[in-house]
Amino acid sequence: MKTKDAVLASMQSGFPRLGLATLPTPLEPMRRLTAHLGGPRLWVKREDMTGLGFGGNKLRKLDYVLHEAVASNADVLVSGGVVQSNSQRQVAAAAAKLGMECHLAVYHGRLAPPTPEYETSGNMLLNRLFGAHLHPVPWTGDRNVAIEQLGSRLRQEGRRPYFVPYGVSSPLGAIAYASIILEIAEQSAASGIRPAAIVHCSGSGGTQAGLVLGASVVMPDTRIVGIDIDAEPERVRSDVIAYGRAAAEMIGAPFAEDDVEVIAGHAGPGYGVPHAATLEAIRLAGALEALPLDPVYSGKGLAGLIALIREGRWESGTDVVFIHTGGTPALFAYQAVLEL
Ligand SMILES: Cc1ncc(COP(=O)(O)O)c(C=O)c1O
Repeated sequence: MKTKDAVLASMQSGFPRLGLATLPTPLEPMRRLTAHLGGPRLWVKREDMTGLGFGGNKLRKLDYVLHEAVASNADVLVSGGVVQSNSQRQVAAAAAKLGMECHLAVYHGRLAPPTPEYETSGNMLLNRLFGAHLHPVPWTGDRNVAIEQLGSRLRQEGRRPYFVPYGVSSPLGAIAYASIILEIAEQSAASGIRPAAIVHCSGSGGTQAGLVLGASVVMPDTRIVGIDIDAEPERVRSDVIAYGRAAAEMIGAPFAEDDVEVIAGHAGPGYGVPHAATLEAIRLAGALEALPLDPVYSGKGLAGLIALIREGRWESGTDVVFIHTGGTPALFAYQAVLEL
């Protein structure tokens, strides 16, 4: 195990990055939502404002991961996700910016609203706009096999594909995401606050793995609270632990499983299906803070945070940071279920 300073140095400058994301993202107070809920002081870290192609949390990971793609002389990025995946849209945006071809395995058949917008608007419209090649495949429950198969096919055709995993979740992606903690620590100090918790939605696990890793080094008194949005809390927790452990090993840091908290009960009936609490959270964030959340990820994340506040988890006077991880384009694909 390295000293704290050596780990910090490794986090800060041990890994090359491309600079695709606009950083640091703002940390803003949510005064009206705080007053409405009557609990802790709420802040929002605007990871929806990372810039490129409508932004989102994956750009922070792609900054590091795609450096490897460029360094390995790849000529095509291969990734995938469900029809309205924010991850694959951010890969498509990065590919366009880098001048690389992008091929996406688009999973059909995971729960989705039966509306034309789901297939054509939001992230799917942007994938096409950014010039990605779309390959429809059935959803089998395995997140990466179809992407790997697509990559093998391209390799056989003489291409040099670089595989970007589902959700850009990998040990390197987790190290990349840990960098957000350096920003939050600096911004918190500038605002004179010491956040009791950072709350965010958790899916493929890389984001939370990075947050836990970064907090253990830089903000050890701040609890990371992941809200499961997949209705698979055990799977999410074990993925967070796997990515977090591997990432910690890469930078010589400790990783404590006890620091991995994944809260169940706010995913509604399943991935991509918003329930009443999700819709309430989206409406409150919109009406009180002009904060556009989405019904698949960030809306469920805020629904979880609101539930924890109503259960009395934090006293008023404490500070809690919510991460808006992005996903705004999906709002337009889910227009029918928003009932606005
Ligand atoms: C908007 C948004 N928020 C949160 C997440 C979850 O991040 P992770 O998959 O790293 O857990 C995703 C992943 O696709 C996302 O698109």
